[in-house]
Order: sequence, then C-alpha cells, then structure tokens
Amino acid sequence: MNKALRKAIIAGNWKMNKTRPEAKALLDAIKPLVANAEGNVEVVACVPFTNLETAVNATAGSNVKVGAENVHFEKSGAFTGEISADMLVEVGVEYVVIGHSERRQYFGETDETVNKRTVAALAAGLKPIVCVGELKWERQCNITEEVVGRQIKLDLWSVSKEDVKKVVIAYEPVWAIGTGLTATPEQAEEVCAFIRAQLAKLYDQETADAVTIQYGGSMNAKNAAELLAKPNIDGGLIGGASLKAEDFNVIVQAAVNG
Ligand code: PGA
Repeated sequence: MNKALRKAIIAGNWKMNKTRPEAKALLDAIKPLVANAEGNVEVVACVPFTNLETAVNATAGSNVKVGAENVHFEKSGAFTGEISADMLVEVGVEYVVIGHSERRQYFGETDETVNKRTVAALAAGLKPIVCVGELKWERQCNITEEVVGRQIKLDLWSVSKEDVKKVVIAYEPVWAIGTGLTATPEQAEEVCAFIRAQLAKLYDQETADAVTIQYGGSMNAKNAAELLAKPNIDGGLIGGASLKAEDFNVIVQAAVNG
C-alpha cells in the first residue's frame, strides 16, 4: 500500500468533443499549467481519433502524453471504421482507453472484446487504461465486488505479470459518470483497494502495488484532492472537467501535491 511504488496518472477523456483547432487551443492552454507535473505524476489527454495527430504535435516537447479512446484488436484487415494499435503507435500515441462504460453500454463491448483489445494494445506497446465499474442497480443489489472482480479477471485474462504493470485500471462506477454524482472518497477507496487485492490474488502483491488504479466519475476541481488522498486511488480519468484547462489543472495539482 505504498503510493510511491506507482505513478499518479491524471488522464482527460475528451469523449466526442473538440475539433482540431479546438483541441490545439485546449492543449496549448493546459501545457504551461501542468508543466510542473513531473516524476511520479503523468498527465495524459485521451482525444478523439481525428485529433490524435494534432494532439501529438501540440504536446511535442511537453510533459503531456496523448491517448486514444479505443483500439481494435486485430492487426489489420476488413474491419470498416476501426483503428489498429499499430496505427495508433505510428501516430505517436502512448495510452488508450479500453472498455469505457459508454463503449460497453452503446457499442456492445464485452469483457471478451475488452480483453482482446487490451492484449492487442500491450503487444503493440501501448499502455491500456482499462475501465471497470458497476451499474447503479448492481451497487444497490450489493454485488459491486462481484461485478468488478469478474471484469478484472476477464479483462486481464492472459496478460502477463510484466505486462499488467503497464496497464492502468480505471474504476468508474457507471452511475457516477457524467451525472455529477461522485462516489464518496470512502466508496471509491473501498473498490480501488478491492481491485488491488484482486490483482494481488491474480499476480502477487508486488505486482499489484505497481499498478496505477484511477478513479473516474464526475471527478472535478472540487472533489479531486479528497479522492486522490486515498491510499489506493492513484489518479483520475476525467471526462467533463478535462475540457476546461483550469479545472483539469486543479486536478493535476492535487496529484502533484498529494
Ligand atoms: P465524467 O466522465 O468525469 O464526465 O463523469 C468520466 C469518464 O467517463 O471517464
């Protein structure tokens, strides 16, 4: 349970927002604000596919890394509309969000496809941000740990001990995403600690201690410091608040000072 063993990663998930000029303007605003985030704090902007090249160019020479919001699991071929891991690497992308609840909810993603995408991303040298989390009624039925434990097992199936250290897990309770309802720091910590315990079971404690576990779901400038102060919450995956440079920076600074 030592935060110094792993990176704090603050990642913006822009979702389907921003044209290329808007993306450049937002990144140009973010860069100087977060320039002091170094060493153990990593700042990532996960942007729509059309903005990736713009983002890579705009962040060149800065400490802001670029991520994509999805990746296909096959290397190439007849998969109209899909983007491969090699294509992302070639553009200069380092991270990729996989299994976001919006992908699971609206685009038929399953734990099986999340696992395949994770394996493909790792094979290409990308760092996957794998999203897990329970629905509201699953929490109400008191099966949060069952749901998240199953997702962790299936999503990381066949991922080696070495590779899992490159994986970021984002715990995102579905009921908290874009709703303004944040999990309390205690609720978020409870599940993040559970995820780490599951990783220790699947791998070992040293490996589990090396994995960055983020919280996501209405994390914002007001609640970030309290969430990030928890021993098993190593960062955040931030939607709405990542679209405003000042708000995003407050969250980054909470990690820097945490
Ligand atoms: P939100 O989104 O911060 O707008 O709730 C988080 C996410 O979907 O990753």
